[in-house]
Amino acid sequence: MLQQIKFPSGTVNYYFDSKVELLWELFATRQVVLITDKNVASLYPALFRGRNTIILQGGESSKDYSTVVSICNRLIEFESTRNTLLIGIGGGVITDITGFVASVYMRGVSFGFVPTSLLCMVDAAIGGKNGINLGLHKNMMGTISQPEFILYDTRFLKTLPDAEWSNGFAEIIKYGCIFDANLFEELRNSTLSAYRADSIALQSVIDRCVNWKNTTVQTDEHEKGIRKLLNFGHTAGHAIETLYKIPHGCAVGIGMLIACEISTAVTGLNPNTSWQLLLTLTQYNLPTQISIDVQNVMSILRSDKKRNKNTVDYIVLSAPGNAGIQPLPFNVIENALNIYESNN
Ligand SMILES: NC(=O)c1ccc[n+]([C@@H]2O[C@H](COP(=O)([O-])OP(=O)(O)OC[C@H]3O[C@@H](n4cnc5c(N)ncnc54)[C@H](O)[C@@H]3O)[C@@H](O)[C@H]2O)c1
Ligand SMILES: [Zn+2]
Repeated sequence: MLQQIKFPSGTVNYYFDSKVELLWELFATRQVVLITDKNVASLYPALFRGRNTIILQGGESSKDYSTVVSICNRLIEFESTRNTLLIGIGGGVITDITGFVASVYMRGVSFGFVPTSLLCMVDAAIGGKNGINLGLHKNMMGTISQPEFILYDTRFLKTLPDAEWSNGFAEIIKYGCIFDANLFEELRNSTLSAYRADSIALQSVIDRCVNWKNTTVQTDEHEKGIRKLLNFGHTAGHAIETLYKIPHGCAVGIGMLIACEISTAVTGLNPNTSWQLLLTLTQYNLPTQISIDVQNVMSILRSDKKRNKNTVDYIVLSAPGNAGIQPLPFNVIENALNIYESNN
């Protein structure tokens, strides 16, 4: 099912409820280069056989400058031109790096995504942000440019490892927290295994999240206002993810708990919400405890992209489904982090 969604910088063709093989019909006459990672390539060999494919090691460490250079060199070997279409087939690492390379190779070529992880389906593939990391700094280099298309084929989820399901649900829980109290409630009353066993419920949750992300980005593509709300749980989350090499969704889950803690202090969020969130995270097999070195986390936060001189723009909740942006002095964040200090 094709649906065209207009963003300020371009229109994206969404092929919902589709089969990946549709790609070969859609782009039969174009030079296509596929970018994927080792896991996806080895699980779906028939998809890549006989096609120009760049297979990355995968994982967060692939999202760096040296991978960009090596992909560009491979594109030159494939004699890729400005008309070449790059298609990222994989999780968020693959879509981020594909979008980034496509934005800079020959000053920009077309690109599209086939998200294969849940996290990528509900979040990473959508919105036109394409970033790579710079050392410890997540997504420090990047562009905003929209893909030509995003194709959804949920058959890929059959091979998704358990931990990646949880990562995806962390972002789904995030949408509930910031935009959608009914979704938060639905998630609270369900579990990861229930969704995995009910493809209709799962599809409806994916559609709901895709819709939330699309409408947010449509009104604020360059993250001047409402799009910032999508960073709920990500400020401390990114710092923890980078320092402790824990998966994105796990770090975001902890980040959301920290943000709720802060919210209770600054917006008067009912402390019950933190408790509900904690229980919900456990229902989706996400961790709720971590031991951190607060000073190390703070030093990353001090170089966060969202920082001002003495404050960081933090996403806080006043109730489930109701989020806002609040510049917070570093010491308020430090206080909330202290409960996770490893030396306590
Ligand atoms: N651009 C954005 O707006 C945005 C938003 C959210 C997250 N992100 C980025 O996305 C990344 C996280 O995404 P992710 O969790 O998808 O990471 P990922 O790409 O590393 O995928 C997670 C793991 O799942 C495997 N995998 C993917 N699909 C599979 C399948 N169908 N079957 C079996 N294994 C499969 C991958 O090989 C990988 O090991 C982070 O780098 C994050 O910064 C970007
Ligand atoms: Zn995220």
